[in-house]
Amino acid sequence: MDSIEIQGGIPLKGRIQISGAKNACLTLMPVALLCNEPLTLTNVPRLSDILSMSHLLESLGAEVQMLNEGRVLTISAHKIANVLAHYDIVRKMRASFLVLGPLLARMGKAEVSLPGGCAIGARAVNLHISAMRDLGAEIELENGYVIARTGSRGLFGNRVSFPETSVGATENTIMAATCARGETTIENAAREPEIVDLVQCLRAMGCEISGEGTRTIRIQGSPGLTGATHGVVPDRIEMGTFMLAAAITRGTVELVGGEACLVSNLINVLEKAGIAIDKSAAGIRVSSSDQRLQPVDVQTAPYPGFPTDLQAQLMAVLATANGTSEIVENIFENRFMHVSELRRMGARISLHGRKATVEGVEELKGAPVMATDLRASVALVLAGLAAAGKTVVSRVYHLDRGYESIEHKLRGCGANITRVPT
Ligand code: EPZ
Repeated sequence: MDSIEIQGGIPLKGRIQISGAKNACLTLMPVALLCNEPLTLTNVPRLSDILSMSHLLESLGAEVQMLNEGRVLTISAHKIANVLAHYDIVRKMRASFLVLGPLLARMGKAEVSLPGGCAIGARAVNLHISAMRDLGAEIELENGYVIARTGSRGLFGNRVSFPETSVGATENTIMAATCARGETTIENAAREPEIVDLVQCLRAMGCEISGEGTRTIRIQGSPGLTGATHGVVPDRIEMGTFMLAAAITRGTVELVGGEACLVSNLINVLEKAGIAIDKSAAGIRVSSSDQRLQPVDVQTAPYPGFPTDLQAQLMAVLATANGTSEIVENIFENRFMHVSELRRMGARISLHGRKATVEGVEELKGAPVMATDLRASVALVLAGLAAAGKTVVSRVYHLDRGYESIEHKLRGCGANITRVPT
């Protein structure tokens, strides 16, 4: 398990190329199961989660061709050999559950392992299951697997109303509905940019679909989807992470390929804290002064609210603010695993249920810390970039799931950061 060593205290200065969105790519790849023609994705990020999804699709019988050093994927599912998504794969990556809808739509059956919980929460799938049932699937839970079958009628269009917003359940339902007979209306749909990207890809494949980015999405089922080529949307969480890296180091960074509209809520928070954000010809420019940041109170919420996937990174930044901030995590029940490690670096953070009270300190101190999940690990990297002295972040395989070449991108802006193979 590699670790990352950082000598902190250097303001970041330079440009960072933003990669394609991990969470968009992980729902776009299973789309290929919906038709027997190839789907080509460009601007694909080079991440371990993408490799995991590739292996899952290959285990189902799809062919995955990687071109241009992995930045282009062509996935051909002209034949599907089996419909089993094994526990060993699904337990490592919850997004594997996104093959449920496409397999049901294409094959009329699916056997997908329940993903189980992870570091940030129980990660239930009840909303996915109830939506598939609304579309006519018969679903049993056996030995830790979801056993799903369409009756003789196949999937049929219906009204699917989610009691709470779910990105993954919205994605599974959209994909299943593309091949259902008739129209499906999804109410209280997730509005994330990754959902918009999924819909735009399906539209390019011939699907009649509308309402993406709103709470109501309408899909006209059609069995005749065709292959297409689609560019993956920029990764707003990677973008936000590097914006926060510039802020915590009081640096100035230009995010090439960044789109401000994808991170508008974070921009509001950073401007309140005293950071200047401008659009540039190449993307977004983040400029800090050498003044300490102002405290800001934030609550995470479904898009367009403040993203839960930036909560840990923001907490690291506010740990050095000139005052006390409150952060409420409304999406996941256990997404404060980074707090104990930030405290080891001198952060003053107290927890009360889903609320973290962050009393800013003048300076964090470098320390050996351990990553527990993807976003917690990058929060520790950000803290190390600002801390006095040396920080060693262990178990960085978490990082490699969601950040392409992070040490190279940060080193390109002057950071003293190296990966140490162990
Ligand atoms: C997606 O996860 C993202 N992952 C997550 O990013 C992100 O944090 C999350 O959306 C929220 O924005 C991918 O897109 C691959 P949800 P997902 O269903 O779809 C509960 C990262 O760091 N829920 O919107 O699994 C659930 O427990 C990852 O990149 C149910 O109760 O999230 C959570 O509390 C982490 N039943 C809330 O809803 C269900 O059937 C939102 O979950 C489904 C979800």
